[in-house]
Amino acid sequence: MSESTLVPPPPAFAASAHVSSRAAYEALYRRSVEDPAGFWAEQAARLAWHRPFDAVCDADARPGEIAWFHGGRLNVSYNCVDRHAAVTPDRPAILWARNEPGEYETITFRELQERVGRFANVLRAHGVRKGDRVCIYLPMIPEIAYAMLACARIGAVHSVVFAGFSADALRERILDADCAVVITADEGLRGPKRVPLKSVVDEAVANLDGVRSVLVARRTGADINMKPGRDRWLADELARQRATCPIEWVDSEDPLFVLYTSGSTGKPKGVLHTTGGYLVYAATTHHYVFDARPGDIHFCAADAGWITGHSYILYGPLANGVTTVMFESIPTYPDAGRYWQVVDDLRATIVYTAPTALRALLREGDEPVRKYRRDSIRVLGSVGEPINPDVWRWYHDVVGDGRCPVVDTWWQTETGGILIAPLPGAIACKPGSATLPFFGVVPVLVDDDGKVVEGNDVAGNLCLAGSWPGQARTIYGDHARFLANYFARFPGYYFTGDGCRRDADGYYWITGRVDDVLNVAGHRLGTAEIESALIGHGAVVEAAVVGFPHPLKGQGICAYVITRPEFDAWNREELAGALKEQVRKAISPIATPDRILLVRGLPKTRSGKIMRRILRRIAAGDFDPAGFGDTSTLAEPAVVDDIVALARG
Ligand code: WT7
Repeated sequence: MSESTLVPPPPAFAASAHVSSRAAYEALYRRSVEDPAGFWAEQAARLAWHRPFDAVCDADARPGEIAWFHGGRLNVSYNCVDRHAAVTPDRPAILWARNEPGEYETITFRELQERVGRFANVLRAHGVRKGDRVCIYLPMIPEIAYAMLACARIGAVHSVVFAGFSADALRERILDADCAVVITADEGLRGPKRVPLKSVVDEAVANLDGVRSVLVARRTGADINMKPGRDRWLADELARQRATCPIEWVDSEDPLFVLYTSGSTGKPKGVLHTTGGYLVYAATTHHYVFDARPGDIHFCAADAGWITGHSYILYGPLANGVTTVMFESIPTYPDAGRYWQVVDDLRATIVYTAPTALRALLREGDEPVRKYRRDSIRVLGSVGEPINPDVWRWYHDVVGDGRCPVVDTWWQTETGGILIAPLPGAIACKPGSATLPFFGVVPVLVDDDGKVVEGNDVAGNLCLAGSWPGQARTIYGDHARFLANYFARFPGYYFTGDGCRRDADGYYWITGRVDDVLNVAGHRLGTAEIESALIGHGAVVEAAVVGFPHPLKGQGICAYVITRPEFDAWNREELAGALKEQVRKAISPIATPDRILLVRGLPKTRSGKIMRRILRRIAAGDFDPAGFGDTSTLAEPAVVDDIVALARG
């Protein structure tokens, strides 16, 4: 695909879009960066404020000290639920697509208000107060939405942990955020599999005295262990409470949630988002990037345990009063037609998913797509990793019948919402490029020496100048780490960790992480985190983890591991299997290395630094020493030959 191939917005779509031409985008964009206070004050009017804010933004004074809509008071649950229940009580708020195909449940805004109210009263009864953290470890059942909105209703801070994380990982997150209440389910369903959530929680909270209550939703009816005095069935607790729960009005800068993500060190970061700015940003980006309007059926196939689910299953659509689909299953259950069956059955108008899912579906051909009606779809979205141009084409031509704009959206857990993406009615796309910045967003490319790279047809480290309302405010309990991580490398800018190219037309192309973070099937993982998991196994002396290009997952994980001599007698395959199991247990199956190479040494410089670029080349199958770069500082060059011999194996 040549860079100059432009795919203009379908004219019929553009005609009625919120922003319907490049010129209209440019005018609004200029306004947003020249007068951010004016622009964002207008956008803030999407929400209902209990008390108006005094200032729009004070983020310029000191780097990393960010506040938006200061002095304003509001409530996220009121904005996402009550105000819509008052005017459109019978409109579906959530359409739940259960794990089994063809099974759906509708929750209207009125019903959502009742369930959130009842849930909030349960949390209060369990001692949860404003500012307290609540851990949510639930599968994709409506209770996850009720739980999140119930926290918001009483000013509590939710920490959703994706229900694929292991007991060790869950325990670490519960401890870090100091959660006294954990909400889970007996089991989760993911396609043909059952996930034993309650028993994972039991292991995670064993001997954690800080955890007072474990509230358990019944999903499968499996026989589980209930610890007296600590564990309660959610249904029983809900039945005890009334459905109305007063709103706790909070300050715009009061925290809404913590969400853990991987960085370049072993310990996951609790990214903290606050109330006013986050919700304004989620609602505004949802409105413009998906051209959302009342009557839309927004189908974001992510899990609510990731930021995509927070912003674009729950908060963005519901703040805008738009019906949101909650999908419990997986894209290939029972077959590769499942997404499109959901689209057909629910008449979804917006579809938002990840390239990794699309790559898996594309492999199965067009028939599972064509089998279902897709004429309800207006906008197709992609998120999480670069989308290969051929996959983009397939999405556009086959899934969208060439009728629907495709929005490739670049953003991060830390950005709260979409930062770079085409507006579907305004911007001509180049497959593979996230195109142009959203309103108020100022991307800056900086070279490794910290010099800003001006002009077009350039590349550099992707940074952002200034602030936007959805920006994370801190890392929970570690503001110094927040500053060091994002604001120290390139002073004056927020550093994203991504590399990026700005082409001759000013379009942005994300080239992937430049730090030690991997993107495996759309999941963000730190190499250091996987290494420390491996070192947790008694056999391991040292480990180095790198990513390599993987046709389906985007990146695969390759671990180079040095084991203790006592384990030399072990069967190599068995040992590698045990190490994989170790990573599954310490983090999650999503972090399992694809390849484990049991090596005798690692290529290190004389000062002891592992030369990862060599390991990356070898993992990618590039054994040509010419590609290894400068190896003159290697302490023991022979180590590389040994590894190459083993990798060729
Ligand atoms: C990292 C953030 C955004 C929600 C899901 C992931 C990569 C994300 C794109 C895209 C190329 C992308 C970046 C980013 N990424 N979207 N459209 N094109 N790369 O959130 O887990 O915080 O990961 O995902 O590398 O830094 P996350």
